[in-house]
Amino acid sequence: MMNFLNLLAQTEDAGDGLIPPPPRTDHEGSYWFPENASTFANDVDSLFMLIFWVSLVFFAAIVGAMVYFVLKYRERPGHKVEKSPSHNTALEIAWSVLPGFLLVWFFVDGANGWFKQRIIPGDAEQIQVVGKQFSWEFYYPNGDVTTDLHLVKNQPVEFVMESRDVLHSFFIPAFRQKQDLVPGRFTYTWVHPTKEGVFRLYCSEYCGDGHSLMKTNVKVHASHADRDAATFYNWEDGKPVDNGKRIFMLKCAGCHNPTEVKKTGPGLANIWGKERDFGGGDKLTVDENYFTESIRNPNARIVSGFSKPSQMTVFSEADISNEEMAWLRAYIRSLSGLGPQAEPDAEAEEGGSNEETPADENENADGPTAEEQPAGQEG
Ligand code: CUA
Repeated sequence: MMNFLNLLAQTEDAGDGLIPPPPRTDHEGSYWFPENASTFANDVDSLFMLIFWVSLVFFAAIVGAMVYFVLKYRERPGHKVEKSPSHNTALEIAWSVLPGFLLVWFFVDGANGWFKQRIIPGDAEQIQVVGKQFSWEFYYPNGDVTTDLHLVKNQPVEFVMESRDVLHSFFIPAFRQKQDLVPGRFTYTWVHPTKEGVFRLYCSEYCGDGHSLMKTNVKVHASHADRDAATFYNWEDGKPVDNGKRIFMLKCAGCHNPTEVKKTGPGLANIWGKERDFGGGDKLTVDENYFTESIRNPNARIVSGFSKPSQMTVFSEADISNEEMAWLRAYIRSLSGLGPQAEPDAEAEEGGSNEETPADENENADGPTAEEQPAGQEG
């Protein structure tokens, strides 16, 4: 039966430049739970159900007794009102101590699960996770980088996580794993994926007006070779505009569409060479100088209609090198029809021939093209 989280994933608008959610048929969750795809899921689910049933039994017993007493001892003609006793030591000890055992049981069960989730096994591979308003970056041991997460079945993985700005939270319902990303320090978590497939990853800590967009897919592959093939990108062989598209996907697509449709920030199609209005009579034509300023110092000028101060991350040379800036410039210019155009995504061209279409579409994380989406107001 479909569960609520999957339902939620299905109702998201896939036309907003986001990675589309996996199709419903990929999921086998129960009425209560999302699909069970990690070694943590059974522990979490069974503890949840234990607490649920104990609560239900106590609820029925307490409310049942209350209703019974209200009826039995209600004041009515011909019924003598007795003064109730104010105290019964044996009863009070019983109803304190017996539930106490249940609470200890919950605690031991919960603590066991918690320790399992905290103790990272020695054979785990390490993936670096960067959360930022409003997207994710994943750095693999072999140097690959993606904005959707690629794992290998039965390969335990440690996540070393940092935030570039505010609190975020890394949540994969199918794995029953959630961990906050805290600015200024690293946080850690791990999972052991037990099932191939495509799952959903959410930010579950409110982090700004794009919080609800901060989600992506997790694809669990059958082997390391499959995973490497899915995450590999050859920077050396890429044309500047293609490398620029890749940088855009990694760094910018969380807040900007490659179309005219605005997101947290303005859509970036058809802006090059056009005049930007910053309010108060300040206007400027988009050129190399403005492009550089808007990335290195986003607060210098904010397009009118967008919030001040800018929500945009400041990208120093450590974040986007000058070489990468040149690639990105080529791509942004291409969105205005200038210079060479980026190659369409290989996976998208193949038309998603296999059943894992949604993850393949992940490579198209920079969203639909201008033709696919109606031009909106640019802000
Ligand atoms: Cu990041 Cu909510």
